[in-house]
Amino acid sequence: MRKPIVAGNWKLHGTRSSAASLALDIAKGIDSLDHVEIGVCPPFVHLADVEKLINTTPLWLGAQNVSEHESGAFTGEISAPMLSEFGCKYVIIGHSERRTLFAENNKTICAKIQTVHACGMTPILCIGETLSDRESNKTKSVILDQLNAVLHSSPAKVLEALVVAYEPVWAIGTGKTASPEEAQEVHQLIRERMGQFSHNITEHLRVLYGGSVNASNAAELFAMPDIDGGLIGGASLKREDFIKICKAAEAVGLERTKN
Ligand code: 13P
Repeated sequence: MRKPIVAGNWKLHGTRSSAASLALDIAKGIDSLDHVEIGVCPPFVHLADVEKLINTTPLWLGAQNVSEHESGAFTGEISAPMLSEFGCKYVIIGHSERRTLFAENNKTICAKIQTVHACGMTPILCIGETLSDRESNKTKSVILDQLNAVLHSSPAKVLEALVVAYEPVWAIGTGKTASPEEAQEVHQLIRERMGQFSHNITEHLRVLYGGSVNASNAAELFAMPDIDGGLIGGASLKREDFIKICKAAEAVGLERTKN
């Protein structure tokens, strides 16, 4: 049984006080939800404040990025041991904004996955195709290339711990969501490919969908058999909407316990 995950990626948003009040309101709003794992990924500078506010609640804390290095002369970087010390449980890696705006490549992404796993946290690996990839029928090959880079460079124990987020680049922040069927097709592909490495992965891998998920479309996306929750950008900053999205995942999680 795969318990869904809903993660809020706050990106570069929020003040110290708005981050604190958002975290508190979400923690209160999801208190009764037992069939979904919910977390928030604030900007680095808000991690300490948010950790103090949520550490006695079911909400987990995550980071949006990490250095591939554990320490050293890398000005401006934040390492996995530092994130772990601040209570982070998950770290988003390889988000398309990092790949395109900050030139992250598969080699860096693989190194980040290793360092996050070595520090006892769970990497959330983001993959997804651009609009031109999709329009030229390259979705499958792009997804497999991104996955294969990680599969070929990571030991089985790292792969077994991974969470994957399928985020079509054309759906991020655009209001255009992949249809449940389009998303399901790619999620199934991801599960099958990862599953070739271990049957354990097929059953337990959680594949999240990200890209313009909102309070109205979450339920139909999460109802698909290979979608195990979502990675939420814009809607994770709107407390009522984010809580509604969490409730949609809770309903799926509850249903899965019955099967
Ligand atoms: P939006 O939900 O704003 O489209 O962002 C998705 C995303 O990038 C989550 O990581």
